[in-house]
Amino acid sequence: MIKNRLETRKPDQLHDGYVRLKRSDIHKGKLLLVNRSHPVRSETNSIVSLPADILRADHSEEPFISLELECSSQLSRLLGACMAKEQITVVSGYRSAEMQQRIYEESVAEHGEAFTNSYVAVPGASEHQTGLAVDVGVRGGKTDYIRPSFAGSAISDVFRELAPEYGFIQRYQEGKEAVTGIACEPWHYRYVGFPHSAVMVQYGLCLEEYIAFLKRFPYGVQHLYFGDNYEIYYVKAEAGERLELPIPHGDSGNSEWSGNNEDGFIVTVCARGKGGDDVG
Ligand code: DAL
Ligand code: ZN
Repeated sequence: MIKNRLETRKPDQLHDGYVRLKRSDIHKGKLLLVNRSHPVRSETNSIVSLPADILRADHSEEPFISLELECSSQLSRLLGACMAKEQITVVSGYRSAEMQQRIYEESVAEHGEAFTNSYVAVPGASEHQTGLAVDVGVRGGKTDYIRPSFAGSAISDVFRELAPEYGFIQRYQEGKEAVTGIACEPWHYRYVGFPHSAVMVQYGLCLEEYIAFLKRFPYGVQHLYFGDNYEIYYVKAEAGERLELPIPHGDSGNSEWSGNNEDGFIVTVCARGKGGDDVG
């Protein structure tokens, strides 16, 4: 796992550009917090089929798997780095609201409400509906669609170790059940993008905790710095439909923004430019 220096400090200077956003943009981006109290509010446009070399889904429940574009390409890179394309099966990716509804109802009918509410998000509140979540399992034998086996094997350890370098986190960890509302799911990975994945692992934070933590870094007051290359800050969406989000050099710069699906935006500035070296 990448460990990097984390610092918090007042920025040396304010940024010289901005992007114009709409208030509804707080429901878009890689850092969306999605859970029972933060349902999915925006359609994801860039959903793509997985590349043929990792597409070999083996569960009839979801024979055609797709993911958000960047999540899909980073998953490909992660599986390549694990040398695991043969050993790991992708069990579930993007789900429409209707699909989540059907999975939820079928699970309640088969396993009851207590089990279902531990392992299946209520329809409208599943990360799978964003295309940013993927369930993976160890290939071989019969795959359980709701709870694929993905713990305690050499290859799942390698995947878990490398995942943050490629922007993924294990979303539902043991010990965080009371915060996430979901049982431990070693198979469910969420794409949040680097360096957020690495910061979350370094601080031991689940996404609910991380989104709250980032509010300690409001623009211009105190920013979070990861290694030499990354600067992170939060901008609250003030009242009004139109917003101007401060970022260096405006649209043409080296920054990315994401809504938090709650009340504002997180800006990530990379000194090496957008999509800069993952290894921070
Ligand atoms: N298994 C996760 C919680 C979902 O259904 O989104
Ligand atoms: Zn999942």
